[in-house]
Amino acid sequence: MNKIITIDGPSASGKGTLAILLADRLNWRILDSGALYRAFAYFSISEDDQRLIEQNLRKISFNIVDGSIQVLFENEDISMHLRTEETAIQASKISSLSSTREILLPIQRFFSETSNLIADGRDMGSVVFPDANLKFFLDAAPEVRAKRRHLELQKRGQEVNMHDLINDIVERDKKDRTRELSPLIKTEDSILLDSTNLDQESILSEALQHIKERNIL
Ligand code: C5P
Repeated sequence: MNKIITIDGPSASGKGTLAILLADRLNWRILDSGALYRAFAYFSISEDDQRLIEQNLRKISFNIVDGSIQVLFENEDISMHLRTEETAIQASKISSLSSTREILLPIQRFFSETSNLIADGRDMGSVVFPDANLKFFLDAAPEVRAKRRHLELQKRGQEVNMHDLINDIVERDKKDRTRELSPLIKTEDSILLDSTNLDQESILSEALQHIKERNIL
């Protein structure tokens, strides 16, 4: 039986970075479930047929290169198309539809069939992998998360107004936390990590400490 560690939390809480660092350190496979929702939104721009979108989504894989995650579709790196705020907003909209979540559920679970897995998202510990060996819930204050997302977008050459970004993040969180299907929640059996005042290395060592204490490896 492969092992699974889940990391859930709101946007820009640092869960993606923690997932990359852990996957790298443990040499486990990574699942960026948000990227699958974004890819769903991205494919929906040019395709209406849900079966074809599903086929495309099955061809997605993830690669860690120089500390960043690449989303590959038929060996083409589509990460840049997925990381825009427009795609994120669209992904958030379609993520509340049961048809979207039903299509993505088996695709996400399949990632754990061939390897130990670090899975990050909103419902990894609550719905997709309820029996995960260890569950983290990563949170941070909205202003800190907006600042991080701002830096991230700037690095990619995208200029976004900070005020709009905070509003977007708060609005998207509200939708994710209050939606009927798979809302973002901290399950009772997950460990809360707050990254408001902690850098990546400190969060990583806290997570590794929990992994050691629980004898996960
Ligand atoms: O994490 P990321 O910002 O890439 O996720 C994009 C959107 O996909 C989120 O706003 C959320 O609504 C949705 N999502 C989800 N369930 C997941 C991962 C992401 O509903 N497990």
